[in-house]
Amino acid sequence: MTSEPSTDTGTLFLHPDRNLAMELVRATEAAAIRAWPFIGRGDKNAADGAAVDAMRKFLGTVNFDGVIVIGEGEKDRAPMLFNGETVGNRRGPACDIAVDPIDGTSLTAAGRQNAISVIAVSDRGTMLDASSVFYMDKIVSGPAGHGVLDLERPIGDNIRALAKALGKPVGEMTVAVLDRPRHIQLIDDIRATGAGTRLMLDGDVAGGINAARYETRIDLCVGIGGSPEGITTACAIKALGGFMQARLAPGTDDEREKAKDAGLDLDAVMDANQMVKGDNSFFVATGVTDGGLVDGVRRKGPIIRTESIVLRSRSGTIRRVIAEHLVEKWLDEVPAS
Ligand code: FBP
Repeated sequence: MTSEPSTDTGTLFLHPDRNLAMELVRATEAAAIRAWPFIGRGDKNAADGAAVDAMRKFLGTVNFDGVIVIGEGEKDRAPMLFNGETVGNRRGPACDIAVDPIDGTSLTAAGRQNAISVIAVSDRGTMLDASSVFYMDKIVSGPAGHGVLDLERPIGDNIRALAKALGKPVGEMTVAVLDRPRHIQLIDDIRATGAGTRLMLDGDVAGGINAARYETRIDLCVGIGGSPEGITTACAIKALGGFMQARLAPGTDDEREKAKDAGLDLDAVMDANQMVKGDNSFFVATGVTDGGLVDGVRRKGPIIRTESIVLRSRSGTIRRVIAEHLVEKWLDEVPAS
């Protein structure tokens, strides 16, 4: 693998290049394949554990010097892929990494749709560490949202403004939102405009990406979801040219204190470029279960099939990677069928 040297002649700082994404996709594929035997088995921790383990092993072989900014949690609570852990073989570019071995652990355990395995990467020092606050309030759309949407405005105004920008009736708008008690009023307000909702059981990373892509029925994704998921979503949105704003939403005084100690501004409305700075971020995701974004892991005879998407902000590309893996290479954990 080669890396693109910085134009800064004073340092030999290497930036992640386009090849990195193809290396990272091996890690999300491995996580999805290892999680596959646990789909529908009712044990989300076992599914997550298998995915974490596989992702970590593959990340260890990648040519980069990565620090996990968004991981599975604090070191003593998450034995692997914890915030601050270094990954990669240290032979390549210095990067920040966000990992979500499974976004949708409950979906996986229940055998429901839309669980994905995710890694996002950007240049070292460019990814916001929001780990002290569990939730953030988010609004995500495609490019039409720029200069049109504002997290601080009422949802009805945002829906009407985006419908106008998209040139379609409000009644044809679809808004994705996590199906949670905290969103009861939000859901009522969305429906009061005449727009429809796409209620998500889990997985607002895929929800946000679907809102930003052209070829889906979702126009907008809103509501309070995980901060780690927000940062990974921002990496994807940068590559899609989409619109995203978010504000941290601490739920306790303890979180407020920790956020202040970490220097986070709880009132700030951040856009994707403030959450992930620079123009060189990557996002890769592999389907664990089938979903609107990617197909889940499938086994047919001697082959395991995976589908992934690979996004790079610098080039603005979205690639689909369909891979066929020989079952015999993964036999130790793949049940015979
Ligand atoms: P996990 O797979 O890690 O459980 O996350 C699923 C998820 O739905 C995220 O996509 C979302 O951001 C977050 O949980 C919302 O949190 P909560 O379930 O507490 O509302």
